[in-house]
Amino acid sequence: MHSSEADGNRREGRTASKRVADSRTEVTRNVTEGDMNGQGRLFGGRLMEWIDEAAGIAARRHCGGNVTTACVDQLVFHHPAFRNDVVVIDARVTHIGRTSLEVRVDSYVEDIARSSRNLINRAYLTEVFVDDGGTPRPIPYGLDLSSDAERDEWRGAERRRQVRRQRLEEGF
Ligand SMILES: CC(C)(COP(=O)(O)OP(=O)(O)OC[C@H]1O[C@@H](n2cnc3c(N)ncnc32)[C@H](O)[C@@H]1OP(=O)(O)O)[C@@H](O)C(=O)NCCC(=O)NCCS
Repeated sequence: MHSSEADGNRREGRTASKRVADSRTEVTRNVTEGDMNGQGRLFGGRLMEWIDEAAGIAARRHCGGNVTTACVDQLVFHHPAFRNDVVVIDARVTHIGRTSLEVRVDSYVEDIARSSRNLINRAYLTEVFVDDGGTPRPIPYGLDLSSDAERDEWRGAERRRQVRRQRLEEGF
């Protein structure tokens, strides 16, 4: 276990952990007429809906209960998708706070003929574990990090948390 992650688990008094793989969520969608904008491309709002859905499922799998989305960073579209394209949304938990967790969501358009994927967007969502009344509650599970990539993501998430906190303080 990475030291800052172990510190985080101790600080929150958690005794149980889950692996990133336990909650990783892949959603596959076919782009249909109703998903397209006036220029014949995938509508950005529809992709946002799919990203939010995948992040929510991954977060619920990790926490074992309901979550709500607090923040989305960020929507930059690197690659277009068109009608009948296959879009793959891959969501994984990167960091656990006290009541919130960060989920990285990569969206790809799949080239079926070449068996390859082009990245459309990478987003980081902050999901908050909530009770039935929508009040934040402590996440019962820590995160077991099992690769250098997962440890790098955890460290990156800690920096992103600081940036978000600063943005909130500045009313941005
Ligand atoms: C998200 C929400 C539950 C947070 O409630 P709150 O009273 O501000 O709770 P807190 O200040 O205790 O924050 C709870 C956690 O959320 C995080 N958080 C709150 N606002 C955040 C923001 N804008 N960006 C990133 N994280 C945020 C806090 O850092 C904290 O995390 P931690 O416990 O891991 O340190 C509340 O703002 C809410 O219900 N928002 C609407 C969510 C919604 O409806 N989403 C659907 C999209 S429309």
